[in-house]
Amino acid sequence: MARFTAALSAALLACAPLVSGLTSTLEQVNDFGDNPTGVGMYYYLPTTVTDSPALIVAIHYCTGTGTAYFEGTPYAQLADQYGFVVVYPSSPNEGTCWDVSSFETLTHGAGGDSYGIVSMVDYAKAQWGVDSERIFVTGSSSGAMMTNVLAAAYPDVFAAGIVYSGVAAGCFMSATGGVDAWNSTCSTGESTATQEQWANVVFDMYPGYNGTYPRMQEYHGTIDDALLYPNFAEEVKQWAGVFGYDADAPAETLTDTPLANYTKFVYGDNLQGISAEGVGHTVPVQGEEDLKWFGII
Ligand SMILES: *[C@@H]1O[C@H](CO)[C@@H](O)[C@H](O)[C@H]1NC(C)=O
Ligand SMILES: *[C@@H]1O[C@H](CO)[C@@H](O)[C@H](O)[C@H]1NC(C)=O
Ligand SMILES: *[C@@H]1O[C@H](CO)[C@@H](O)[C@H](O)[C@H]1NC(C)=O
Repeated sequence: MARFTAALSAALLACAPLVSGLTSTLEQVNDFGDNPTGVGMYYYLPTTVTDSPALIVAIHYCTGTGTAYFEGTPYAQLADQYGFVVVYPSSPNEGTCWDVSSFETLTHGAGGDSYGIVSMVDYAKAQWGVDSERIFVTGSSSGAMMTNVLAAAYPDVFAAGIVYSGVAAGCFMSATGGVDAWNSTCSTGESTATQEQWANVVFDMYPGYNGTYPRMQEYHGTIDDALLYPNFAEEVKQWAGVFGYDADAPAETLTDTPLANYTKFVYGDNLQGISAEGVGHTVPVQGEEDLKWFGII
């Protein structure tokens, strides 16, 4: 993971801390439930939350930690403002990438880092009365890959996801079942498939599941040098396949949305792809825009 790690850490850690003046503090829980790989759990519970609050699971990049993502993203401030809870998982792996390659993590109920994160959701429901219908997931880079994986393997848990610079769920799948394995075929954008094939990768992660899948928003920078831009099209194809949209025919194309030089492709109510022209691997987290996708505001 060294190459990936070096490309990511400097840019992402340069964010100024966004956590001054909060009503509460970041806390850690050690015993939150089944956690086969030893994922760390941090959370931000504002002093005041709404009844049956929403939950955002916010997942860090390689070299990051739950604490770094708390400090570098606007979710805690927004939680104070809108009364939801944030959980920040922390990777147990060397280099702190997430395991998005093993059979376990890519299979519903089979274990891996994904399973530990879902245990945190169960803990949040039991502890803070989080609304089961308003559980959301987002992340950057390796955390973005995990966001796609969680949406695919645990569609029963999450209502929506936002992916900042990831790859399609299963794109890092290791031929040998390797845990937290790098996959350069995928990272360089050479793992391509039809939308039907990508959708089947999702369906195979939870065989027999017949419920709905999380609404997905996929962001990607056009000059991403860590997870190359072709991965944007593959992610979009995957979820277009799941929802029965045509990835080649967005219903709407909005230029300069939500920012100048970003183009938002709307495929239907459940899928948007946002291409950030001239942006590298670090697509800035949008904050309030995210809360709109989640339906929190
Ligand atoms: C990389 O992922 C692809 C699927 O995207 C898979 O076919 C291939 O076997 C993986 N490579 C390795 C070395 O595991
Ligand atoms: C959907 O899955 C559930 C749980 O496995 C099952 O009880 C139910 O019969 C299934 N419904 C349909 C329409 O297949
Ligand atoms: C948008 O792209 C144009 C042309 O490349 C550039 O001049 C401008 O600075 C960009 N705007 C922003 C906000 O990045």
